[in-house]
Amino acid sequence: MQKRTVLRLLLGTGLALGLATHVGAADTKPFKIGFILPMTGQSASTGRQIEAAVKLYMAQNGSTVAGRKIELIVKDDAGVADSTRRIAQELVVNDKVDVLAGFGLTPLAAAAAPIATQSKTPMVITAAATSSLTEASPYIVRTSFTLPQAAVSIAEWAPKNKIKKVVTMVADYAPGIDAERTFKDRFTLNGGQIIAELRSPLRAPDFAPFLQRARDASPDAIFVFLPSGQGAAFMKQFAERGLDKAGIKLIGTGDITDDDQLNDMGDVALGVVTSQHYSAAHPSPANKKFVEAFQAANKFRPNFMAVAGYDGMRVIYKAVESTKGQAANGDALLEAMKGQIFESPRGPVLIDGQTRDIVQDIYIRRVERQNGQLWNIEFDVQKSVKDPGKKK
Ligand code: DHB
Repeated sequence: MQKRTVLRLLLGTGLALGLATHVGAADTKPFKIGFILPMTGQSASTGRQIEAAVKLYMAQNGSTVAGRKIELIVKDDAGVADSTRRIAQELVVNDKVDVLAGFGLTPLAAAAAPIATQSKTPMVITAAATSSLTEASPYIVRTSFTLPQAAVSIAEWAPKNKIKKVVTMVADYAPGIDAERTFKDRFTLNGGQIIAELRSPLRAPDFAPFLQRARDASPDAIFVFLPSGQGAAFMKQFAERGLDKAGIKLIGTGDITDDDQLNDMGDVALGVVTSQHYSAAHPSPANKKFVEAFQAANKFRPNFMAVAGYDGMRVIYKAVESTKGQAANGDALLEAMKGQIFESPRGPVLIDGQTRDIVQDIYIRRVERQNGQLWNIEFDVQKSVKDPGKKK
């Protein structure tokens, strides 16, 4: 009897010790975040902006969370979907990352989504902005925006501001189609008329023929969506073709007056009105701090991609923190990402627990020169906008 009690005690202690060692090991295992970004190619500015913001977040918040060392892995997919898929596979299988993140374009995020689903790995989209993407995997959480979310406000503003006839011009792929459809539906509902719908190729576009057709149609304005990185080239050709001189206004989602390029666009950008979720000129104390720290570290201005990368890290850090670094699997981590509410440099945001998409304020902004630089100056806001593009 006595012997058995001793044995039981010993066994118990051994078990407890074993458990302690096991927990200790889990504790110290690094928490791995695998960012897949276009660091080269046509969308390289998206990768450069997001990587800079992620590194800033880590510099400001430390690289240990709830006892776990955060290990950042950044891989370049050059904007090619086959590479995104292969890299996502390698990150999950070989590196055993806890979270996948990044995804600079919609087709790249779509290519990785099945891998997130199969491996039950949370996938934080910090760039791609087609509405339906969150439905590509139940493991997707988005900190960027959606085109329908951004496009509604300018479609409301335009008809109240002497813009009745519009030519739409969008990049010919999913977010462009989202922007085109959303703008058209809301603008026509408010009495506007779409007189032509033009679509430019995503890769290496030459805007000249589209601008010529737009000019020939004599609209009050052109509504434009182009992905980050194409705005400056478009703006240059807009001026070269004399559309500004012809009195044709330029409106769009804020991707066209992207803070990454805006300051180099010159006078042609002055007065361009767009709607979007982020301006580097957003006048909140949180944003001033963010922009100052970002510019000190990088010598360039953060754009909407940077802020989504920064907030993506916040969502991941808080999920590690609230699961005490011990999330047993991707599902627990995903749950901890849902419903987060916080003050982003862009303003207040919520990760909707149902849709896993971001709810945020959308601002209407006009390009102005202030202190010798071009900025998107916000002059109106629609609060707490949920993506209107989701299937009901
Ligand atoms: C997408 C990419 C962009 O650069 C952008 O500004 C908006 C959307 C996309 O591919 O989803």
